[in-house]
Amino acid sequence: MVKIASFITALCAGLAAATNVEPQPGPKPKNIGIALFKGWQPLDVFGPLDAFWGLGTGQPINVFLISEDGISAEVKGGMPFATNSNTSATVLTGYSYANPPELDVLLVPGGIGTRNEVAMAPVIQYVKDVYPSLQYIISVCTGASILARAGILDGKRATTNKRAWAFVTQFGQRVRWNPKARYVRDRNVWTTSGVSAGVDGVLGWIEYVWGSAVATGVENGMEWNRVGANGDKFGKLYGLW
Ligand SMILES: *[C@@H]1O[C@H](CO)[C@@H](O)[C@H](O)[C@H]1NC(C)=O
Repeated sequence: MVKIASFITALCAGLAAATNVEPQPGPKPKNIGIALFKGWQPLDVFGPLDAFWGLGTGQPINVFLISEDGISAEVKGGMPFATNSNTSATVLTGYSYANPPELDVLLVPGGIGTRNEVAMAPVIQYVKDVYPSLQYIISVCTGASILARAGILDGKRATTNKRAWAFVTQFGQRVRWNPKARYVRDRNVWTTSGVSAGVDGVLGWIEYVWGSAVATGVENGMEWNRVGANGDKFGKLYGLW
């Protein structure tokens, strides 16, 4: 009985999130950038930033915010919906695409700004230029459309926001899109589903790089109810499977 119970526990834990993952050998990434643009989704940025903050309490890392002008990036309230709500936020960045810090990892958020093809050109170019020098790249939500437009996802498995599925996947005709996953790793490219999935993907990435004890420490510090790579429900909600 005990054996069966522990087997079932192990099975459930395995489905919910990989457990007891051994840390990746080799040098740990240290410098993490977040590429911001006008119309970034708040949780896509601040969720992972909170996980990086927790990681930084125990591991030597640096996080840099990067934007086109090197000064700030705005998300405007309400857009594109017809509303007079005031829910805007502007973050100060300090690094530009033209003069970025040296990075090991780049996180690319999504957001309503990804719908503006013209405004996206600088961040797509930056991602394309920097990717060959990175250890890892991580996209959140519709940020996958930026990776796809930069050609990084060609021939790879990936996922994205399930509600914005048709919009994002049109940019990646040679991508093996997974409509079920919460997040997907293919080689050094991590793509996550919508908005909050960025935190699950980053926790999965932390587990992959630093091991399960470190990832669980960050998760518990955030009091985050973690969803594993296969635990997503939104593809079904939006009729993708
Ligand atoms: C948002 O701010 C504008 C400008 O100050 C104002 O006209 C509008 O009424 C505000 N919206 C709400 C919901 O209060």
